[in-house]
Amino acid sequence: MRRVVCPGSFDPVTNGHLDIISRAAQLYDEVVVAVVLNPSKTSLFTAAERVELIREATKQLDNVRVDRFEGLIVDFCRHNDISAIVKGLRAVTDFDYEMQMAQMNYSQAGVETLFMTTNPLYAFLSSSLVKEFAKFGGDVSGLVPPGVLSRLTARLSEA
Ligand code: PNS
Repeated sequence: MRRVVCPGSFDPVTNGHLDIISRAAQLYDEVVVAVVLNPSKTSLFTAAERVELIREATKQLDNVRVDRFEGLIVDFCRHNDISAIVKGLRAVTDFDYEMQMAQMNYSQAGVETLFMTTNPLYAFLSSSLVKEFAKFGGDVSGLVPPGVLSRLTARLSEA
């Protein structure tokens, strides 16, 4: 089985992430979306919430599974029999760091990284910008799936 992983913080998942996940799902037998659990990073949504939001947004994709991980992505790959990481590349600003991580993961664990060019419609999109825009009343309805939009609105109104 050709199984790949799409790792990330997904705080929250955006239409840009979903574009990459769904395109990867057309190319591979199984795509595992892996939500990183990083206790040292503050997030708006808990890992369980982020997993749930991605599950809801990908429920129509039969070969997509959502999981979470802590520690190194290459260890997650080894435990789940995954040979490659799929990442979206938005712009040159992503490139340096992504390249470094890809080379580290390959040199230390033999795990490949495959880059997909982001759909130009979402080239500017990031979870951080979505949160900031929404926080100050901006309309992000075209940038995130409906389930995220409602949870985001509710969470920001609690603050
Ligand atoms: O959505 P993000 O925050 O850009 O995702 C970054 C992520 C989670 C993919 C990356 O930080 C990662 O792989 N973290 C797991 C820890 C790890 O393996 N670090 C070494 C990378 S060389």
